[in-house]
Amino acid sequence: MSQTEKSRKILVTSALPYANGPIHLGHMVEYIQTDIWARFQRLRGNSCIYVCADDAHGTPIMLRAQQEEITPQELIDNMKVEHERDFSDFNVAFDNFHSTHSDENKHFSEQIYLAAKEKGNINTKVVKQAYDPEANMFLPDRFVKGDCPKCGTSDQYGDNCESCGATYSTTELKNPYSVVSGATPIEKDSEHYFFKVSDYADFLKNWVNGGAVQKEIANKMNEWLDGGLNDWDISRDAPYWGFKIPGTEDKYFYVWLDAPIGYIASFKNYCDRTGTDFDEYWKADSETELYHFIGKDIAYFHTLFWPAVLKSADFRLPTAVFCHGFLMVNGEKMSKSRGTFIQARAYLDHLPAEPLRYYYAAKLNNTVDDIDLNLQDFQQRINSDLVGKVVNIASRCAGFISKKFEGKLSDSLADEALYQQFTDASDSIAQAYEDRRYSKAMREIMALADLANQYVDEKQPWVLAKDEDRQQEVQDICSQGLNMFRAIMVFLKPVLPELAEKSETFLNAGELQWNSVSSPLFGTEINKFKALMTRIEEDKVNAMLEANKEQLAIAAALQAKTGGNKKVSDSQLGQDPISPTIEYDDFAKIDLRVVKILKAEHVKGADKLLQLTLDLGDEQRNVFAGIKSAYKPEELEGKMTVMVANLAPRKMRFGLSEGMVLAAGPGGEELYVLNPDEGAEVGMRIK
Ligand code: MSP
Ligand code: ZN
Repeated sequence: MSQTEKSRKILVTSALPYANGPIHLGHMVEYIQTDIWARFQRLRGNSCIYVCADDAHGTPIMLRAQQEEITPQELIDNMKVEHERDFSDFNVAFDNFHSTHSDENKHFSEQIYLAAKEKGNINTKVVKQAYDPEANMFLPDRFVKGDCPKCGTSDQYGDNCESCGATYSTTELKNPYSVVSGATPIEKDSEHYFFKVSDYADFLKNWVNGGAVQKEIANKMNEWLDGGLNDWDISRDAPYWGFKIPGTEDKYFYVWLDAPIGYIASFKNYCDRTGTDFDEYWKADSETELYHFIGKDIAYFHTLFWPAVLKSADFRLPTAVFCHGFLMVNGEKMSKSRGTFIQARAYLDHLPAEPLRYYYAAKLNNTVDDIDLNLQDFQQRINSDLVGKVVNIASRCAGFISKKFEGKLSDSLADEALYQQFTDASDSIAQAYEDRRYSKAMREIMALADLANQYVDEKQPWVLAKDEDRQQEVQDICSQGLNMFRAIMVFLKPVLPELAEKSETFLNAGELQWNSVSSPLFGTEINKFKALMTRIEEDKVNAMLEANKEQLAIAAALQAKTGGNKKVSDSQLGQDPISPTIEYDDFAKIDLRVVKILKAEHVKGADKLLQLTLDLGDEQRNVFAGIKSAYKPEELEGKMTVMVANLAPRKMRFGLSEGMVLAAGPGGEELYVLNPDEGAEVGMRIK
C-alpha cells in the first residue's frame, strides 16, 4: 500500500490458548507473528485492533480443576493471569485479552446457535459413546486408554499406538480403561446436536477458492469438500464445563463451538471499554478487514466450520485466515523428555524477549512450513545481526557526535545516494511485512545494516577524528551513520518495539513512524548513547534449558500425583531420578522456615487436603496440604515441620493457601511430614 492510500480498519486475532496449561515457545510463534503484523499496520498509520482470549472451556479444564481441588473458575482465573504476564513480557500487545467463559461469549454463542437453528442448520442424532460408569460421565477420545490391539503396548490412546504406529478405533483397544477413574468404559447412547456443515458446501467451495486462505490450505480443504462433509457435533453431555445449550437441561456447547465465537466476544468487550462501533466490524457487509492467525493444526475449525457458522448467523466473514507451521527445536518436534518443550516463563527468566522475536521473524514466511529454533544458531544470529550489525552502527557513531559536537547532528547528508538506498528499500520491506514474509524483510534490513557498516569502515571516522582539519567530515560521517541506523530501527520497529523505544530516546527526535525514513534528522541533538542490547552468552541459554527441565519435571510429578493417569504414576513415583543440578543461587531463592503446626482440620469437600494453621514466629499462615491420606489432624497438631514460606499464595476453592509444608513419600498415599531435630525453633531459616 502506498502512504497516500486511505488508512485501513483492521481487526486481527490469534488463536485462543487453552487455559489448562502454560504458554510455551511453540505458542509464541503465533503470538509474535501476529503482534509483528499488527504493529507493522499501526506503524504504517492504519488502525489495527488485536484481540485474543483464553480458551477456558472443555473436559480437560474441568478434570484438571477437580484434580487440583479448585473450581474451574479458579483454575482459569489463575491461568489467565499467567498467560497475560507471559504475553506482555514478550511484548505482545493485545488491545484486549478476554476469556471464553464470559458474559459476552455466552450471549454470542446463544445468539449464533439460535440463528443457525432458525435457519434449519441444526439437527439431532443419537450417538454411541464411551462412558465411565464410575465417574458418571461420557469420555472424550483422549480419556480412554488401553493396550494396542496390534502390538500390545500398554497405555495407548484410543486412536493410534505411539509404539508401533498402528491406527484403530477406540473400541478396538484391549483392556480399555478410563483415564478419569480407571474403570472399564461402557458404551452408552446419548442425543447430540449437530451443525449441518453440508448446508454450506457450495458457499464454502467459493469461499475457499476466493483467496481467503493460502494455497496449501485451499488444496487440503478442496479434498475435504470433495470427500463430502459430515455434520458437526456441537454438543456435549453434562458434566461439562461450558455453556448450556438454550432449551436443553443437560447439553452443553462443545468447546470448539464457543471458542472462535470468543473472537467476537473479546472484541465486544473491547468495544464496550473503548466506545468502538461493534457493528462496523462484524455486520455481514462490513468494509473493515478481519484476519485470523492460526496454526496449521486448527485449520479445519477455522476454514470450514467457522465460515459456515458465521454465514449461518449472518455475521461478516474473515477477509483471510493466515496459517503458520509448527515450531521445532534443534530440528526435532518439541519434546518434554528431551527438555525442548520450552515454557515461556523459563525462557523469560533467563533471556530477553526481543531476541526471540527477531529470531522468529528471521525464520517466518507466509507458508505453513515448520520453523526450527536451533539454540546455537539463535545465539549466533542475535550476536551477529542485532548486536554486531545493527546496534554497532549506533555505538560506532554516537561517541564522536556526543564528545565532539555536543550531540548535534550535521545539517545535511554526507552521502545522499547511499541514504537513498534506504528510502528506496522502504516499499519492498513494507510489502514483505504485509505479505507475512518476515524472513525476506529481515534479510533486506540486514543488507542495509551491512551497507551502513561498510560505509563507516571505509570512512574511518576514528582516524579522521585525530586530524584537526577534518572535524566537519567526522560529524558528517557519523550523522550519516546515525541516520542509517535510524532508518533501520524504523524497519525493525514491528519486531523490536523495546529496542526501537530505546533508540527513540537515544535519537531524541520523537516517535519513529514508517515515513520517518524519508525525513532524516538534520541539526537535532541526540542523547548520550547507552548500550541498547547485549550479547547472548551460551551459559544463559544452558541455564534456561536446565530451569525448563526442572519445571517440566515438577509439572509431570504434579500431574502424576494428582492421579492424572494411574498407570504412569505408579511406575514413575518411588524411582524419581535426581533432578538436574541447580546453582546455589537457585536454591537460595527458596525461603524454608521451621514452623509449628498449631491447628490441623479436615476440609469439607476435599478428598486429599488438610487445612493447617502454621506458626512462623512472628506470623501465622493458612496452608492446604495434600496429606490427608497419611495423617489424622490430631496427629499433626503441635508438630514442628518445615515450610516454603515464600511460595506465591494460591487461590483454592476452600480459601487462600499461603505456602507449602514439606513431606516425603514413595508415591501414592504414603507420606511423611519432615521434622527438624530437637533444638530448632519456630521461625528459623534453613540454610
Ligand atoms: N484453544 C485452541 C484454539 C482455539 S481458537 C478459537 C488451541 N489452543 S492451543 O493452546 O493448543 O494453541 C494455540 C495456538 O498455538 C494454535 O494456533 C496452535 O496452532 C499454536 N501452537 C501450539 N503449539 C505450537 C507449536 N509447537 N508451534 C507453532 N504453533 C503452535 O488450539
Ligand atoms: Zn502398537
